[in-house]
Parts: sequence; C-alpha cells; structure tokens
Amino acid sequence: MPSYATDTPALRIAQITDTHLYADPDGELLGLNTRHCLQQVIELVAQRRPHLAVATGDLTHDASAAAYQMVRRCFSQLGVPVYCLPGNHDEATALRNNMNDEPCHSVPCLQIGDWQMLFMDSTVSGSEGGHLGEQELDRLHNALAGSPGSPAMVWLHHQPVSIGSRWLDTMAVDNPGAFFEIIDRYPQVRAIVWGHVHQCFERRHKAIRLLATPSTCIQFLPNSEDFAIDRVAPGYRWFDLYSDGHFSTGVERLAAIPGSIDLDASGY
Ligand SMILES: [Fe+2]
Repeated sequence: MPSYATDTPALRIAQITDTHLYADPDGELLGLNTRHCLQQVIELVAQRRPHLAVATGDLTHDASAAAYQMVRRCFSQLGVPVYCLPGNHDEATALRNNMNDEPCHSVPCLQIGDWQMLFMDSTVSGSEGGHLGEQELDRLHNALAGSPGSPAMVWLHHQPVSIGSRWLDTMAVDNPGAFFEIIDRYPQVRAIVWGHVHQCFERRHKAIRLLATPSTCIQFLPNSEDFAIDRVAPGYRWFDLYSDGHFSTGVERLAAIPGSIDLDASGY
C-alpha cells in the first residue's frame, strides 16, 4: 500500500450485497431484473473509485454457475479485487468454485495496509438462517489474536444482532453469544458488517460499529413484523479507512428504482 497523508483515506472499500442474479439474464426478483439493477449500482460504485470491493452474499438467487459468471463479469467492470462471501441463497461451495478467478477472491482473510479484513461464512446448507460454526469461530479468534496491532473489520452475510424486524430476525445468526464472546476480547475490531436484510442499519456494540447495507435489487421495510417491501432505490455502502484505525462510511443509492416491483408479493 502506498502511504497517504493522515487526512486522506488509505483505503476505500465498496460493499456490494444481495445481488440475487439468476442463470437467466432476464431473471427477475419480484418484478425487478436483478442483472440490470446490479449493472446500475456498479456504475454508481465506479464513480467513487474504490480500491477494492466486498460482496457480502446472496450473489446469486439460484446458485448456478451461469449466474456466478454473470456476477463476475459485472464486478470486473470495477477493475479492482472483489472479495466474496456466501449468503443463504448461494451454495457456499459453488460460490468458492466460481468466484475465485480475477477479479473475485473467496478467501477467509486479508491483510491490506494497516487493516485486517475477516470474511466469515455464516451459511447453513438448506437453511435461510445463519450460524457461525466452531471452525469459523476458531479462525476468527486466531486471526484476531495473530494481528493485535491491525484495526479489523469483520464481514458476514447474516445479522449477528436483532434488527427489530420479526420475520428477518428469525433468519439471523443463531449463536451471537459465541461470536461476541470472541469479538469482545479484541479491541482492534472496528466494525462488523453484513448484508441479508436488504436495508440500511446502524448501531454500536460498545465501540464497534454494526452496519448493514441495502441490496443492489429489492429493499425490505425496516422494523416490519412481516415480509414487506420498501419503496426505496437499490444501493451500496462505501467505507473510507484511515491508517490510524478510524473510518467513515455511508450508503449511496440509485436516483430511482430501476423498474417496477411486484408490491403484492408475500415473500421472496
Ligand atoms: Fe438477499
């Protein structure tokens, strides 16, 4: 990494999540062509010129190789590495097999400049909900213990805390206690970031920022008891990271929803 003045971000990251592409390039989720949506969000991301991107799961809706290849082609337009982790609509093995060619990487961690990035697999085969298995938790613990001087960000698909939406919170990480028991031992953790909930969410756990991010396609209504669509445009989240361990972040959305959504849908 080149060195920068302290007021210049050392690293700019774009989080792209829940792209839900299908093998069929005309595939729609609740009436929205997810490929067109991703294409428009990619163009918005490119304007911010990130150094790298992180894709936090549900990259495909059908876990097909054809859909992964389409996601990879879209991502390649950014011209930067894209670190990918699986969501409940992916098949973790299929994702790893298809998203390990340039520009995509499917790896458990990354040391970049001063920062450590930890990419976790919270998926459970056959389930919409999340779980962090012993192996993932051991890996988290070992990585944090091995780099105590590096500010760290932890990325996963499922929310590790309740977001106040009953139906989505039935699909959260089901063992958050074991996860936070490790997190709380390592003061270098600055942020925990996820997708899955198709909405912007911000809270704190002690000094750690907890952040969720809009999908590149349909959005879910915050604080809703039951499945409900939010009529806001797709988007992504940006992060500007500094060498001293602080960062700034924000969500940017398309100017309008690219198409019309089936608002009578009762699920997805
Ligand atoms: Fe999703």
